[in-house]
Amino acid sequence: MANNEQDKINQILLNIDNEYYMIVKDILENDEFKKRLNYHHHENKSVFLHSLMVSIYSYKITKKLNWDYKSAAIGGLLHDFYYNDWQTTSNKNKPFFKKHGFVHAKEAKDNSKLHFDEFMNEKIEDIILKHMFPLNIKPPKYKESWVINIVDKYCSLEILKSPKNLPKYLGLNRKES
Ligand SMILES: [Fe+2]
Ligand SMILES: [Fe+2]
Repeated sequence: MANNEQDKINQILLNIDNEYYMIVKDILENDEFKKRLNYHHHENKSVFLHSLMVSIYSYKITKKLNWDYKSAAIGGLLHDFYYNDWQTTSNKNKPFFKKHGFVHAKEAKDNSKLHFDEFMNEKIEDIILKHMFPLNIKPPKYKESWVINIVDKYCSLEILKSPKNLPKYLGLNRKES
């Protein structure tokens, strides 16, 4: 992880509201979750920073709307909690529908249940499982799941600026052009 990213994370955590921090504290401080500091996401961000941003935006939006902001904060943080760093493990020889973009939402849901079962509820499972809609064809069931679905795409806008990067955004190809 780059130093400037650690600065950015520290800055975010310093300015975060206490209620949000108390909801997600045990996840942020968990050793398995912290491995995502070294997992690459898009735009040279780690999965940790990407997930934290999706979680904070989703928390703020749902809190303003008086929706279930607790589930949104947790679901946002765990939406990409899949097993391995997909950009360093080969995607190449996998059948098309087994590539990262298609399977990581289910992986993230299973891994979340494994490590953070006490945080999970039906809504959080739906948030994680449906965040790749429409690539995964089942649409979100809850309004909070729609928020994370859209915020995740918004947070990945950088990579979506170039159509050439779409396969990478979708987790079908690791190469960024
Ligand atoms: Fe994802
Ligand atoms: Fe994501």
